[in-house]
Amino acid sequence: MEETEKEKTQEVTEQKEVKAENTIQGQSGESIIKYKYEILSEDYINFDLSFKLIVIGDGGVGKSSLANNGIKKIFDETYKATVGFEFFTFNVKINDKVVKLQIWDTCGQEEYRSLITNYYRNASLAIMVYAINSKATFDDIDMWLRELRRQSNPDAKIFLIGNKADLEKEREVKKEQGEEFCKINKINFFIESSAKTGLNTQNIFLKAAEILYDDYNNYQNKMINESENPEDKEEEKKGDEPEKLENPNNNSTTDKNKKQCC
Ligand code: GTP
Ligand code: MG
Repeated sequence: MEETEKEKTQEVTEQKEVKAENTIQGQSGESIIKYKYEILSEDYINFDLSFKLIVIGDGGVGKSSLANNGIKKIFDETYKATVGFEFFTFNVKINDKVVKLQIWDTCGQEEYRSLITNYYRNASLAIMVYAINSKATFDDIDMWLRELRRQSNPDAKIFLIGNKADLEKEREVKKEQGEEFCKINKINFFIESSAKTGLNTQNIFLKAAEILYDDYNNYQNKMINESENPEDKEEEKKGDEPEKLENPNNNSTTDKNKKQCC
């Protein structure tokens, strides 16, 4: 490892929640990732937090291509429809924690759909994908979201991705339509991407890791506050609503303290 890389790793380990120097800029210039991070190899064994992600959307919108480009930096023009699932792993160190994402890339072809909905249940985060050059795939997002909300953990985070952003001349879905859909349906994050040019492909997985990391920290902080101020908890218990401290993402395989949705 070069000296500069070593320094970077040390800094990442030592500093907590430092404003990132290597922040990523979104299409409109906003900062997407707020923490310092270091991407680790796919076969990195150790981790502090592990989450299951599911990637859904119509056949051919580029789900597998997004994972292949965002994680392995490859792109294949040939369409090979996924049958069942394809698995990917994304490891990233955020501040002092190694976050492992176990990504289940699903098949979008209609004939296989019934195979996959059973697997939504344990996902901490779902990535719904449409292609910006196909209005039909955007219209189907409604159906994917309904199915997701019916089958998944109610606290699972949801992303919407408008892929194939390189096909601007063939665009059938405006970026504003994607943004509007997210506002109406309370989707946690929206971005356009291109698995062909690499636009935002890695950012999707970085953002997913960051949101789940934040979620974990929020829950940890809440637990610490409550153990330090048990009287606050008693006060809360006297209220109308019974105290609920369930882990919303109980699918996290960490055996550390449970966490609360952010
Ligand atoms: P299923 O596995 O059937 O659900 O499809 P999928 O959503 O995984 O689509 P896949 O990644 O296999 O991509 C389908 C086709 O679209 C392939 O020919 C890809 O090369 C192409 N493709 C994927 N992403 C992009 C992109 O961002 N831009 C362009 N121009 N083509 C893309
Ligand atoms: Mg696929």
